[in-house]
Amino acid sequence: MTRICFVCWGNICRSPAAEVIMQRMVDDAGLAGSIDVESRGTSDEHLGEPPDKRTMREAERRGLDLTEHRVKTLSRDDFEAFDLIVMADALNFRRVERLARTDDERAKLKLLRTFVPNLDEKVDQYGGDVPDPWYGGADDFVLAFDLIEEACEGLLEHVRQTKN
Ligand code: 4NP
Repeated sequence: MTRICFVCWGNICRSPAAEVIMQRMVDDAGLAGSIDVESRGTSDEHLGEPPDKRTMREAERRGLDLTEHRVKTLSRDDFEAFDLIVMADALNFRRVERLARTDDERAKLKLLRTFVPNLDEKVDQYGGDVPDPWYGGADDFVLAFDLIEEACEGLLEHVRQTKN
């Protein structure tokens, strides 16, 4: 079993989107028995809440269901519970990195967009991040889902290759 945790700031926009996008890819690939997917926020501001309405709307438009999701905050236990902890952006990567205590824990930390093949963070207009759509409009949510989907394809390929 490979256990993956997606992490953003609030766990109401990007990481729950990544969770359901990845879950669908895992299901479609017939790998539901060997890849487990969850998500967390680095902040506890929205603890226990459902996702942002705009996230729900974009998920629904893509046939993805987030109605059951409730916000969870990343805890120290999660460094043990997961094999890969995948951050939406560099800001949250640094926040999680500060919680890590060992090299083994640090080795689990990944930046989501680094799974896009041949992505050069220097020329990528988003600097390797999935930009925070929270202050934006519906278009920013479409973009976030698109960037997440592209990266999750690479992540699934990565997990397949490292398992075999
Ligand atoms: P997320 O978006 O990290 O993708 O869930 C945000 C949600 C809430 C806030 C920031 C980003 N906030 O500042 O409350």
